[in-house]
Amino acid sequence: MPERIAWITGASSGIGAALALELADHGWRVAVSARRSDALAELCARRPEQLVAYALDVTDAAACEDVAGRIAADMGPIDLAVFNAGIGASFDIRHFDAADVNRRMSVNYGGTVNGIGAVLPAMHARGAGRIAMTASVAGYRGLPGAAPYAASKAAMISLAESLHLDLAGSGVDVSVICPGYVTTPLTADNKHPMPFVISAEAAARRIRQGLEAGRFEIAFPRRLVWLLKTFQRLPYAAYFPIIRRVTGA
Ligand SMILES: NC(=O)c1ccc[n+]([C@@H]2O[C@H](COP(=O)([O-])OP(=O)(O)OC[C@H]3O[C@@H](n4cnc5c(N)ncnc54)[C@H](OP(=O)(O)O)[C@@H]3O)[C@@H](O)[C@H]2O)c1
Repeated sequence: MPERIAWITGASSGIGAALALELADHGWRVAVSARRSDALAELCARRPEQLVAYALDVTDAAACEDVAGRIAADMGPIDLAVFNAGIGASFDIRHFDAADVNRRMSVNYGGTVNGIGAVLPAMHARGAGRIAMTASVAGYRGLPGAAPYAASKAAMISLAESLHLDLAGSGVDVSVICPGYVTTPLTADNKHPMPFVISAEAAARRIRQGLEAGRFEIAFPRRLVWLLKTFQRLPYAAYFPIIRRVTGA
């Protein structure tokens, strides 16, 4: 089988780092990106044959294009791009700061858009490739205490759905990854309970399996997804009191 090439952003820790190792252990060569080059170097040292670091801030569109071009030149055409870089779930309405809200949108959603802009022309030209983005079950519906994060993830889910439709028949496909709670630096300071929480390694295994199976939606754990999708279908008059009661908001 020819070597498969993946690019993962947000790979210096958590889900992205675990996914890089998981893909490396299943025959992929993986370009890993994030801002912290020391953490990327440590990760690459664990699988030096398969992992290559390309430090990057995803909010810089020109840098995303530059890195995508260098990966293709160094490693070969990108078969799979996973736009996974993300920040900041917690939010306090008493300290609404427009700049902070916009910054989270520009990393989570804007960084994904920058990455897509960097890989889509080459994938289109080849008529092959998969673009995946790590959204969240938090994007299914408005949640208390998570407005900037939930809004950015809802935007990503909508983006993925539209791109999947627009790219039908092009040979390029899209996956949206919606994890529930995963133990990573992002959730380390969470004070609230995290029902059905799983490890980054377990999340990475589910993500790789979903990507290799060519699934559009890769959502887990099943029980939390099922519950939140049920909430998604409720009218506001039922949803608001139920979600307040469930979250204690
Ligand atoms: N943990 C969960 O429960 C959970 C649930 C659902 C979805 N997610 C999503 O999963 C993704 C990964 O999060 P995680 O939980 O694994 O947390 P994490 O360990 O904090 O990982 C976040 C990654 O994003 C990178 N990043 C942040 N800002 C960046 C920027 N401007 N440019 C490039 N990279 C940037 C970070 O690296 P640097 O700091 O080195 O740049 C890090 O590698 C996120 O999109 C998150 O929203 C997480």
